[in-house]
Amino acid sequence: MTKGKVDALLGIVFGDEGKGKVVDFFTPHYDVVARFAGGPNAGHTIIFDGRKFVLRSIPSGIFDAGKLNIIGNGCVLAPDLFMAEARELEAAGYTLTDRLHISRRAHLILPTHRVLDRAYEAAKGKNKVGTTGKGIGPTYSDKAARTGLRVGDILGNFNEKYAALKARHEQILRDLHFTDYDITEEEARWMEGVDYLRKFHLTDTEHEINRYLAEGKNVLAEGAQGSLLDIDHGTYPFVSSSSTTSGGVCTGLGVAPGSIGRVWGVFKAYSTRVGAGPFPVELFDETGDTIRRIGNEFGAVTGRNRRCGWIDLVALRYAIMVNGVTDLVMMKSDVLDGFETIKVCTAYRKDGVTLTDMPYDTEGCEPVYEELPGWQTPLGALRREEDFPPAFKAYIDYLERALATPIRIISVGPDREATIVRNL
Ligand code: IMP
Repeated sequence: MTKGKVDALLGIVFGDEGKGKVVDFFTPHYDVVARFAGGPNAGHTIIFDGRKFVLRSIPSGIFDAGKLNIIGNGCVLAPDLFMAEARELEAAGYTLTDRLHISRRAHLILPTHRVLDRAYEAAKGKNKVGTTGKGIGPTYSDKAARTGLRVGDILGNFNEKYAALKARHEQILRDLHFTDYDITEEEARWMEGVDYLRKFHLTDTEHEINRYLAEGKNVLAEGAQGSLLDIDHGTYPFVSSSSTTSGGVCTGLGVAPGSIGRVWGVFKAYSTRVGAGPFPVELFDETGDTIRRIGNEFGAVTGRNRRCGWIDLVALRYAIMVNGVTDLVMMKSDVLDGFETIKVCTAYRKDGVTLTDMPYDTEGCEPVYEELPGWQTPLGALRREEDFPPAFKAYIDYLERALATPIRIISVGPDREATIVRNL
């Protein structure tokens, strides 16, 4: 909402914070909505006009007629999946080609990148990352190795470049003895997707965004994944391959650090994680199952069970620090309605030492909890802060103090109206 600035809306834990729901609240305040990192590994569930859409690569501003949407240079794009996603929106009556611009610098996910994703995972044995299988890691690897293909390449002599990169991938797959795959049909759809992509405005979006900023327009940088999946600041190697934190907004869109306005950090009243990797607050008991069931914590992309636990202040403080979060958004508070006691992880214990700062490696860390009384009142119907039960108010106050950051928006249920805005 800062004029002439880019505000970032970021999931600040392991992704799946429910950004899709708050975007509805945010988009009317912005002229442009831009994705800056990641690709179809994301799954932003948005309920719109009574229909459910899962956006993977397309920014959430697409439902709002007057908004320009941008897929920035920091993203990776799979033409076949993009085509399927876009066609579903077109079938539902949303026009895209005039309102969706794509950076020529964004990298292309090839069918063989997806095979490589599977092959690398298989080769890792018990150290699997548990990727979404969308070819994200291999595509960003090619980007860093300077061997990747970019969206802009489809405008030139593409077939030759495609064949060369595919051949390179096939060689790696042979070296890995991973040869039992057939991408014939997938590749045909992918090529169809490349043709479809040519209908779009493939442009130098960094110039476009900076022009908008100079005109005083507002840009919302819509994050994907979460801060603890960031390639630098996440729980490496159990991370995604892009910069999901606010620094990624600058590199992923081509805007200067001084252009960043507010940084909205979205988190849930509890914790979840999909895929492998350390997760100190994970609950393996009935409480974890209850949170999963009530919170409907199953992956939007892969359908996998999400691992569930209590809120983790060590992780949140770290994410607030590396992102420079200015304002917090707390989602899914109502999921904790039934608990007599709510636990809050305030520190980790490892090798007899108490850690309050996020350590280099969270493997083997045990959570140190503080217990707060639960509110045991359904929050779903509440629309005013004054009506919050005292124990819920105390939970909010406690978090604001512990995180030294204001919680501006609180979601108490899936409905659009179940969103309470405070002191904005
Ligand atoms: P990749 O991004 O497919 O390479 O997966 C790397 C890790 O990030 C895995 O643990 C995935 O489960 C996780 N991941 C990737 N995208 C998302 C997301 O949108 N939400 C939650 N986890 C994700």
